[in-house]
Amino acid sequence: MPEPGPRTAPARVRVDIAHNARVWNYWLGGEDHYPVDRAVGDRVTGMYPSIGEVARADRAFLGRVVRHLAGDAGTGQFLDIGTGLPSADNTHEVAQHTAPDARVVYVDNDPIVLAHARSLLSSSPEGATEYIEADARDPQRILRAAEGTLDLRRPVAVMMLGILNFVLDTDEARTIVRTLMDALPSGSHLVLTHPTLELGGEGNEAAMRFWNENATPPITARTRTEFASFLDGLTLLEPGIVSCSRWRAGATARTPEVAQFGAVGRKP
Ligand SMILES: C[S@@+](CC[C@H](N)C(=O)[O-])C[C@H]1O[C@@H](n2cnc3c(N)ncnc32)[C@H](O)[C@@H]1O
Repeated sequence: MPEPGPRTAPARVRVDIAHNARVWNYWLGGEDHYPVDRAVGDRVTGMYPSIGEVARADRAFLGRVVRHLAGDAGTGQFLDIGTGLPSADNTHEVAQHTAPDARVVYVDNDPIVLAHARSLLSSSPEGATEYIEADARDPQRILRAAEGTLDLRRPVAVMMLGILNFVLDTDEARTIVRTLMDALPSGSHLVLTHPTLELGGEGNEAAMRFWNENATPPITARTRTEFASFLDGLTLLEPGIVSCSRWRAGATARTPEVAQFGAVGRKP
């Protein structure tokens, strides 16, 4: 049986070092990864066995939030930064299922995501999707490029799921978020998930240390206070800052917590 993963790596893709987008895809049960990603992914799982649940809980959170925003909240525009490799229920699929005219811009800086971006561009005829290869550390560039698809005078939901943890300096991460939200009008939303050492997840710390010695990009966990500071000035939607597995989990409210905060803030 052939190994999963593209037979020929696209140009610029490093196959000698594990990359977050591909290892995340591996944990989610996808097929876009190389031996080095599987080796590191398995070592991390050995130290921190719930990492697969974290990845699945994060994607399920994405689905619940986008359904709410595109539905009850009436948000028709999404800027999904740190998109990751296409998976089941990508942001535009969830949003356009509820609101077919939803417009979605995806942003990632990993060339492997660019190579697979075609599946992110399968928009409904009424809506639109676009992919921008850019670094989250350049929010002004992202805003300028997004303007081709999104009307930034109308509310936008900025999705940053599992990505601020790759901006190691907390002040820089805050500045990125503030630059994006300052450019958007009242009624815009910020959707965040972020790993933490405050919600259990024994082995998480050792696993992150191993990751930083063997894979890229380097990662950090944050406290509830640091996570909350990204949402300063925004009105938190109920239930506030919780494990992402518990955010409006409904009938599955007894779902175990995972060591990943999730929250949604609305710009007043
Ligand atoms: C953990 S994955 C999360 C994917 C998706 N948001 C989700 O929640 O399933 C993080 C993604 O962020 C991307 N990423 C990391 N650092 C980035 C940066 N500085 N600029 C843009 N994308 C970045 C990685 O390439 C990866 O695809």
